[in-house]
Amino acid sequence: MTPQGHPSDSLIAFHRQLAQGEIGLTTVAYAAVAPHGRTFAEQMVMSHQTAGSLERLCEAVHQEGAKVSLQIGHCGGFTKDPIHRESGGPLGPSLGLNRYGLFNGLGKIREMTERDIEHTVQQFAHAAALASSIGFDAIEVHLGHGYLLSQFLSPALNRRTDSYGGNLSNRLRFPLRVLREIRKSISPKTALLVKMNLRDEIKGGLELEEAIQIVQALEGSHEGAPLADAVILSGGLVSHSPFYLFRGKRPLQSMVAVEKDRRQKWALRLFGRLVIKEYPFQPLYFLPLAEQVRRATRLPLVLLGGVLDKAHIFQAMAAGFDFVAIGRALIENPSLVRDYQQGHKSRSPCNHCNECVAEMDREGVRCVLPHHLKAEGTQAPARRALDLQ
Ligand SMILES: Cc1cc2nc3c(=O)[nH]c(=O)nc-3n(C[C@H](O)[C@H](O)[C@H](O)COP(=O)(O)O)c2cc1C
Repeated sequence: MTPQGHPSDSLIAFHRQLAQGEIGLTTVAYAAVAPHGRTFAEQMVMSHQTAGSLERLCEAVHQEGAKVSLQIGHCGGFTKDPIHRESGGPLGPSLGLNRYGLFNGLGKIREMTERDIEHTVQQFAHAAALASSIGFDAIEVHLGHGYLLSQFLSPALNRRTDSYGGNLSNRLRFPLRVLREIRKSISPKTALLVKMNLRDEIKGGLELEEAIQIVQALEGSHEGAPLADAVILSGGLVSHSPFYLFRGKRPLQSMVAVEKDRRQKWALRLFGRLVIKEYPFQPLYFLPLAEQVRRATRLPLVLLGGVLDKAHIFQAMAAGFDFVAIGRALIENPSLVRDYQQGHKSRSPCNHCNECVAEMDREGVRCVLPHHLKAEGTQAPARRALDLQ
């Protein structure tokens, strides 16, 4: 991304590279549905200003014979974007503490009114319609990781007493409204994908039992089309349990180094080890939970998390998943899928050091693995500067 939140030429080149590497669908993430939906000020917004470059990105991917999806979301009460100062602070399901924006004077989350909710539904629908009209083959709506719709789904973060809080059908009301409006607004040829949590990994948060009920609700149809064409299963809240979703090492030193705010830097240095928990990496780490969802629905499901080796892909297919999603192993080598297909490689050297996560705040996402650790047959240079966000 450019510092102004515009998709850069290197972002377009990266997605082209993934398409050349024989992936089926590449996802551009994360696009806020409105300026107030940004987690930080430089984040991309799906708008007429970004549409031109995103259209070029779609064309580049299509030229290589692959498909492209746009992940859309809203930060809700998880933001440090100063834009929220002018409007009196960020909005979320309930009054609460925005730890992420604490040092930016944005510590207080205000409760959304029904009017705010309706306005945000329309923002999602407009962003999705625009993305569909410029050539995205799929829209991925973020219902996970602690963004706004996930905040509504989470009993720990949503303490409303109106028809948007309380039991699961109430907490689902807003996300379902968003999906129905998007369905109405996008081309019937555009797929509608949902990314959601298997569990929040926070005390009193969303747990698997309710996650299964959410997936079952997504099987429901809207004017003949299912509410979701496929569901991507993830977990964790970026605000509270970020390394639950990225399992592996916690790159604290680099996180401190890239933090621009002096007070936040000190807080990370002093309390990082205490508040940011590390979760050991395991291949296919969401599989045990995701298998239980698989048994409960016929919706196409995407298995995510720790897909590294060629054998992991076959294992996921054997377990009944329709697709796999790969993050870090493709950052290490965008040609991984082609290498697997052509038999050049069967393993990814990604060691889940998670330095790529910290790199997002430096010059853009890149793999820092030194050349000698990269397996033979990799065509990519040792240090690539990529910017996924
Ligand atoms: C550098 C980086 C940036 C990411 N950005 C996003 C994002 O914008 N939205 C999202 O839903 N997940 C994001 N993720 C999470 C991945 O989609 C994925 O859930 C996670 O990396 C686990 O999959 P993996 O084991 O294949 O890497 C990001 C991951 C990495 C490493």
